Amino acid sequence: MTPLKIALTKGRTEEQVIPLLEASGIDVSGLKNKQRRLIFNEDPRYQIILVKGPDVLTYLNNGTVQIGIVGSDILDEQNNSQYPMLDLSVGKCRFVLASTEDFNPRNPRRKIIATKYPNITKRYFQSIGEDVEIIKIEGSVELAPLTGLADAIVDIVETGRTLRENNLKVYAKLQPVNTKLVVNRLGLRQYRQQIKELVASLRKADLASVKE
Ligand code: PRP
Repeated sequence: MTPLKIALTKGRTEEQVIPLLEASGIDVSGLKNKQRRLIFNEDPRYQIILVKGPDVLTYLNNGTVQIGIVGSDILDEQNNSQYPMLDLSVGKCRFVLASTEDFNPRNPRRKIIATKYPNITKRYFQSIGEDVEIIKIEGSVELAPLTGLADAIVDIVETGRTLRENNLKVYAKLQPVNTKLVVNRLGLRQYRQQIKELVASLRKADLASVKE
């Protein structure tokens, strides 16, 4: 049997998804003790690769993998149309507009907004009919309003700790985010049975983890 290829987003998603994969009966011993390895096939049914979120979609769109496990933030930002098959209860967070205490969202002056997600930011401000300048940042976005680089940020909040510890305030709540299992459409045709089995066991493990 040809193994089903899965691209899993490294970092937080990986940490939260590994217990679900394990509870689904997948051998994740390699992933749990990975050191610097990037490719895992302890379980002969699967080949799992660890990549950065946006690269999950590159591998998926190219057909190199059949399955991607990735945040809806990345799917939304890239407007990706691959087939979402399962919503996982992990990786739940929300986009917000945040800034310092003295920020005035109603100030008519053209605002500068820093973000890792320029498309989501652009769509949000278009939806409220406001024209803003967007600065793309790669990380530690919270620094932008604190240093004067931008008036405010559009970023993801999970626990709210980063905002709190940097004295930033939420001015608007945008869309929620969660982790999704996404399938390449051609892969779905070629590996239908294997994908069905994986989705069914992951769904069960995910539901059980929520009830715990
Ligand atoms: C994300 C996000 C916030 C933080 C929010 O950053 O951009 O900075 O997590 O989480 P919290 O509400 O639980 O504090 P990430 O940790 O991915 O790092 P980055 O800033 O380097 O992108």
